[in-house]
Amino acid sequence: MKVTIFGTGYVGLVTGACLAEMGNHVVCVDVDASKVARLERGEMPIYEPGLEPIVRRNHAAGQLAFTTEAAPAIAHGQLIFIAVGTPPDEDGSADLRYVLEVARTIGRHLDRYTVVVNKSTVPVGTADRVRQAIAAELAAREVQVEFDVVSNPEFLKEGDAVADCLRPDRIIIGSTSTRAVELLRKLYAPFNRNHERIVVMDERSAELTKYAANAMLATKISFMNEIANIAERVGADVELVRQGIGADPRIGYHFIYPGVGYGGSCFPKDVQALERTARDAGYQPRLLAAVEAVNCDQKDKLFELIERHFAGALQGRTIALWGLAFKPNTDDMREAPSRRLMERLWQAGARVRAYDPQAREETRRIYGDRPDLVLCDGAYAALDGADALAIVTEWKAFRSPDFARIRAALSNPVIFDGRNLYDPATVEEAGIAYYGIGRGRTL
Ligand code: UGA
Repeated sequence: MKVTIFGTGYVGLVTGACLAEMGNHVVCVDVDASKVARLERGEMPIYEPGLEPIVRRNHAAGQLAFTTEAAPAIAHGQLIFIAVGTPPDEDGSADLRYVLEVARTIGRHLDRYTVVVNKSTVPVGTADRVRQAIAAELAAREVQVEFDVVSNPEFLKEGDAVADCLRPDRIIIGSTSTRAVELLRKLYAPFNRNHERIVVMDERSAELTKYAANAMLATKISFMNEIANIAERVGADVELVRQGIGADPRIGYHFIYPGVGYGGSCFPKDVQALERTARDAGYQPRLLAAVEAVNCDQKDKLFELIERHFAGALQGRTIALWGLAFKPNTDDMREAPSRRLMERLWQAGARVRAYDPQAREETRRIYGDRPDLVLCDGAYAALDGADALAIVTEWKAFRSPDFARIRAALSNPVIFDGRNLYDPATVEEAGIAYYGIGRGRTL
């Protein structure tokens, strides 16, 4: 099938590459000419495992093209996906400027029946607004063209995006148009093997499904962080509690890891946007507000542990950080807990030596060159001249370190383990003080 995708961010690029991989002819449109030029050379704008070979292969085979030209791209697609960003507005609602701009562009060029598919995470009611924006442009041109607008939210996780896209656990098609649903069923048939993954519903339910999924996952995390905060006050170990509750299949082991708070481009933004949607609809969401508040406090957790350990004397100290990205296997620093930690350390007069396998360049782009930040080439290099070590991101490379080497390198051997990677007894036997999240010895 012929597919056009507006936006070459995480969602657009991964979706485009995976649809091309399944034999479709895909044209990806982006307003950023330099990004399009880089993609044409086979350079990825993001770090995402497995993406580059699929993009390169399909580009070389003529299945995947990149352009800044909207008109021919709109003429190409039987299906036109909107996968542009929806950054948060000042009030927490999703900014639909880019989505509606694409809708108007589509309306300015549409000349035959087309299905317009919303893949961006958009507030409930956006499909209607996209439909109105397209219709207004068609009316201004005085042409009559049939089209459908479908909500088809994406559930990919950064770091696993290609696998999630090629093997989705569900495909939500939000549309009441039989014609549109049939086209999408055909497009997704290769992804829908072995058992039925497609769930068809109305547009608004599909839009809300995306927010509900992310808000539920964020709730699990904040819930566990709250249990961790209770655990450390009552002398319990949240890691044992986690295993104890996860064994119940109704709770499950996924997404109940306590830590330094959730980050990334989705959970913080989507929880806030859903809160806003609820309020606009006349409902005061209590649970969502609490999920966000717990998360906000949790991002201060590591700093507070460090500050307390050093009795507030952080001026002139050097803290080594392992991990900067908001989670492993990505270079994404959006809402990353490392940022709050570094900023608070700097405010307190401490210096940071940090190592992250992927996010160094991104960190440099955000903070520039500053004397109190050294971005190191290796995990152990970050320990040189440091007083203490803080673990912020659970990269695999940090899981089984050489504790003797850590002890020897730190002037004040102590680990602040923001991801509960280590067994406290093992670390303490190595002669290093240990602080985890919700595992005693924290207050
Ligand atoms: C999330 C969802 O998991 C995807 O299903 C969704 O499609 C995506 O948002 C989106 O809306 O586009 P992502 O933001 O890439 O994906 O990352 P996650 O793996 O979900 O992690 C989010 C944050 O939660 C990370 O900061 C992670 O460290 C934290 N987390 C996760 C915990 O603190 N504890 C856990 O048990 C799990």
